Amino acid sequence: MALPKDFLWGGAIAANQAEGAYKEDGKGLALVDILPSGEKRREALWNPKVALNTTYDHYPSHEAIDFYHTYKEDIKLMAEMGFKVFRTSISWPRIFPNGDEKEPNEAGLAFYDDLFDECQKYGIEPLVTLNHFDTPLYLTTEYGGWRNRKLIEFYERYAKVVLERYKDKVKYWLTFNEINMLLHIPFFGGGLVIEEDENEDQVKFQAAHHQLVASSLATKAAKEINGENFMIGCMLAAGEVYPYSCHPEDMMKAVEENRKQYFFIDVQSRGEYPSYTDRMFKELGVEIEMEQGDEEILKQYPVDFISFSYYSSRLTSADPEMYKGATSGNAFKSLKNPHLKASEWGWQIDPLGLRVTMNNLYDRYQKPLFIVENGLGAKDELKDGTVEDDYRIEYMREHLKEMIEAVKDGVDLLGYTSWGCIDIVSAGTGEMKKRYGFIYVDRDNHGNGTGKRYKKKSFDWYKKVIETNGEKL
Ligand code: BG6
Repeated sequence: MALPKDFLWGGAIAANQAEGAYKEDGKGLALVDILPSGEKRREALWNPKVALNTTYDHYPSHEAIDFYHTYKEDIKLMAEMGFKVFRTSISWPRIFPNGDEKEPNEAGLAFYDDLFDECQKYGIEPLVTLNHFDTPLYLTTEYGGWRNRKLIEFYERYAKVVLERYKDKVKYWLTFNEINMLLHIPFFGGGLVIEEDENEDQVKFQAAHHQLVASSLATKAAKEINGENFMIGCMLAAGEVYPYSCHPEDMMKAVEENRKQYFFIDVQSRGEYPSYTDRMFKELGVEIEMEQGDEEILKQYPVDFISFSYYSSRLTSADPEMYKGATSGNAFKSLKNPHLKASEWGWQIDPLGLRVTMNNLYDRYQKPLFIVENGLGAKDELKDGTVEDDYRIEYMREHLKEMIEAVKDGVDLLGYTSWGCIDIVSAGTGEMKKRYGFIYVDRDNHGNGTGKRYKKKSFDWYKKVIETNGEKL
C-alpha cells in the first residue's frame, strides 16, 4: 500500500462560499459580502472601489448553500463517504463582526462548537483555515486592510480566541488561505484597495509582511495554548511555473516566477526572508517597514507543515510578445501550454504537474505536505436525481495517481482534501454552476432552487477510493 494507514482523506470548503447567513447571530460583513457574481465580480475583484460604491441585484455569499443551517445533514453525507478530515474555515467576522472589537461574539463561537462536535461525532478531523478571503469589511473601509499594521493585532486576538476555544476539538490549522493570492487578487488576499498613484508592489509586499508576522504570532499562540497537540500549516496556491522553452532566458524567468510564490512559504517555513528578496525588492521599488522583534518572531515560529491548493501548472516566457493572447483562466497569469487540455473555465489540466509540484515543495522544505484543494469546476446536469460526472472522476483519478507517485518518490504527505466536496459558490466568478462537488446542491447562479442535496456518481467512486486507501481509483 503506497499511502500510510492514517492518510487523511476528505474534502474542503470555505465559510464565505458555503455558510450564507451573512448577517445572522451578529455576524459582520466580510469583504466578499459586497461582491456580485459573473463578469461584474471579475471587475470588482480587480477594482474593489466599484464594488464599494455599487448595489448589485444578487450577492452569492449572502445565502450561498446555507451550510450555516444544513451542516448536520451535509457532514452526515461526508461521513457516509468515509471522510477522515473536513476542511473548512472560520468566518472572522462571525467572531469579531468589525474585526477590531475587544470581545468576541459568543453566538458565532457557539456555531463552530456545534460544527466541530458534529465532525467529532463521526470521527472526522476538522482542518480549519483562520482566514479564507473573508477579512471583516470594516477593516478595509476603516483601516485600509492588511496594509495597516494594526491588523496584526486584530488577527492575533481573533486567532488566540479560536485556538483557545477549540483546542480540544481541532488539531490542524491553516493561518491564511492561499497567502500568495495577495499578489494576484489583493482585495481577496489582503482587503486591499490600491490607489492609482501608489506603487502596487510596495503596498502588496508590506501587507504580505504583516500577514507573515501575524501568521507567526498565531503559531506562537498555538504552541503556547496547546503545544505539540496543534499542527499549524501555511497554505500556498501552488502550481509549478514551467519555462515555455529550453532557452536559458525562459528558464531564468521561470525561476523568478516560482520564487514569487515560494517567497511566502520560504518565510513561513524557514523563518526568514530568502536571499533573493533584496534584489527582487530593489527592482520592484519595495522597501519593507519592519518593527523590532519581527524577524525574531518569524524565526522562532515557522509552520509545522506545508499545505497547498493545486489546480494547474503555469507557463512563462521571457519574451513579452508571447503574452499576446495568453490564457487568463484563473488568477495566475499563464501562457497556454500546447500539451494540456483545459476545463470549461479555461483552467489547464496537468495531473503530472501535481507530482512535479509536490516533489519541488518537499525538496525545498522537507516538511510534511497536505493537499488541501484540488478538483474540477464543471457544469453538471442533474438527471433522475443524480449527475453522471465521469469527467470529474477522470480528473481526480489522474491527479490521485500522480499524488501516489509523488509519495512513492519519497514525499511525506499528510492527506488530501478535494475542493468543494459539496457544491458551493465559486470564489473567482461567484457562480453556482461552476461545481466541484460529489454532492449536488440545487441552487442556481441567481440563488434560486430548493437547496436540496443529491449524490453524484463521483460520490460512490470517492467512497471506494477512501475505503481502499487509494488502491482502487
Ligand atoms: C482557490 C480558493 O483559489 O480556488 C477557493 O482557495 C476557490 O476559495 C478555489 O473556490 C476554486 O476557484 P473558483 O474560482 O473556481 O471557485
